[in-house]
Amino acid sequence: METDREGPRSSIPMREASARAGISAEPPRAVGAKPAGANDESGAAGEVRRMFSLIAPRYDFLNHLLSLNIDKLWWRRTARAFSHLLAHSDSTVLDLCCGTGDMAFALWRQAQSRGAEPALVALDFSHAMLVRAVAKSKGRPIRWLEADALRLPFRDQSFRLITSAFGFRNLANYDAGLREIYRVLTPGGEAGILDFGEPQGPLGRFYRLYFRHILPAIGTVISGVRGPYAYLPSSVERFPPPEEMLERMRRAGFRNTGWTPYTFGIAGLYRGVK
Ligand SMILES: C[S@@+](CC[C@H](N)C(=O)[O-])C[C@H]1O[C@@H](n2cnc3c(N)ncnc32)[C@H](O)[C@@H]1O
Repeated sequence: METDREGPRSSIPMREASARAGISAEPPRAVGAKPAGANDESGAAGEVRRMFSLIAPRYDFLNHLLSLNIDKLWWRRTARAFSHLLAHSDSTVLDLCCGTGDMAFALWRQAQSRGAEPALVALDFSHAMLVRAVAKSKGRPIRWLEADALRLPFRDQSFRLITSAFGFRNLANYDAGLREIYRVLTPGGEAGILDFGEPQGPLGRFYRLYFRHILPAIGTVISGVRGPYAYLPSSVERFPPPEEMLERMRRAGFRNTGWTPYTFGIAGLYRGVK
């Protein structure tokens, strides 16, 4: 059972992480999602949007099934990690790559539990995913927006909190994504990026078997679409490990960066302050 006992900064501290990874002062090369068949960043983004739009009708069902409903705990735990910001009605909050809306709903519930109603915007570039989010939103005052996370339609310093759950990994350029998040955060604002990781040890071996072979097979059969569930494990393998991701966040300007593993590191929350 997941608990939320860690403090706001229980994590791999930045400098220790860099030392362990042996990261040099050289700027890291640009990396981002690269689905099969994509030759450049715009091709990758187009393919990601196409895949999520194709699986949108079965996305929620498969998400809960393949994660054994642990995804719900991860969203809730992420929202709780930012309760100090969500407790204020004058906070402005942006959920990037919102998909069918579950992270945004968790943020909203957390705010409500603290008696607050912050302005909450949720954004995705897949129309089909947003259609489902709107259908699920049942009158909650969330503003849904169809836009690209790499070209946010907001002025600098617009948001106190920016989250992204399982979306950031799909960006075609991670550094550009971090720069854009940093740009639209207010000074002192916070970012929370929840995404998959690769657990180590014996559990890691079992998990990799499940994630690379069983999950894509079930996902492909139930969604009826071949590409997206084969792309999922390869996108996690491409995603920088925690030490490198923290280094990239710091290079984008974030301070107080840290990573908190969830469920033995199957997922984890990256945090940083502008
Ligand atoms: C795995 S889903 C996650 C959805 C939701 N946040 C969740 O936790 O279930 C990834 C989402 O990121 C969106 N996405 C990927 N790249 C994007 C981009 N550049 N701009 C906006 N949305 C993007 C996809 O359309 C998809 O809905």
